[in-house]
Amino acid sequence: MTANPEASKCSKNANKGVPIHVAIIMDGNGRWAESRCLDVSEGHLAGFQNLQRVVSDFAQRGVRYLTMYAFSTENWDRPESEVNGILELAIAVIAHETQQLNENGVRIKHLGRVDRLSPELRDELEQAVEMTANNTGLTLGIAFDYGGRAEIANAARKMIKDGLLASEIDEKKFSEYLYTSDMPDVDLLIRTGGDFRISNFLLWQTAYSEFYSSEILWPDFYGEHIKEAFESFNERQRRFGKRL
Ligand code: IPE
Ligand code: IPE
Ligand code: MG
Repeated sequence: MTANPEASKCSKNANKGVPIHVAIIMDGNGRWAESRCLDVSEGHLAGFQNLQRVVSDFAQRGVRYLTMYAFSTENWDRPESEVNGILELAIAVIAHETQQLNENGVRIKHLGRVDRLSPELRDELEQAVEMTANNTGLTLGIAFDYGGRAEIANAARKMIKDGLLASEIDEKKFSEYLYTSDMPDVDLLIRTGGDFRISNFLLWQTAYSEFYSSEILWPDFYGEHIKEAFESFNERQRRFGKRL
């Protein structure tokens, strides 16, 4: 019996520490541009600039894996000029940032299909992944031409190609065939731009993630806003289906 029942009640809400894996749906670039009477390309530029700004903040907070949703398998259906603009920006940002990220010990990973990327983007991504492969700091996952359903279908296809027996396929084996094979499940999933939906992001890996939706549009989501997301995470009681 506890001397102070209130204390044991409170201890359930004790500080949970830092989320090891944070994933972000960086939404709201279009609305950010529209609200300033700018072209959508300016919104994507501001979005990529914010991505560059926040990486070190997450690393300093002790996050070990940061996965950023930059372009979905469905985003190809946007106007060609917008899609081309995003591809160009991605090439420029990776070319410009990789050296510095490497010096900071960041390991870059690409999550998604490579076959539909332009050869330039594919090359930049490959080089960035290769250059940083042995780094032991933050793992930065860039989800580009990423879709959760495509990832799961791709894993099933690869297992069949590898000749796995039905009896060999379980949740652990399935995870090994996903793009995130060497990453833990997502602890904190942040969506900016105010919506409460997953939009085909990390469907498998977010089974027990804590979800945080912010009204703030992605280009403006930094500093205080990140702090608030972490504070909210710390207030959650994660049960994973158990009776605590
Ligand atoms: C997110 O911003 C970036 C991508 C999907 C590439 P949006 O461009 O979707 O911004 P909104 O939702 O239209 O404001
Ligand atoms: C999700 O945003 C994809 C990325 C942030 C890259 P979308 O703008 O594509 O999602 P929906 O269309 O609002 O669901
Ligand atoms: Mg959007």
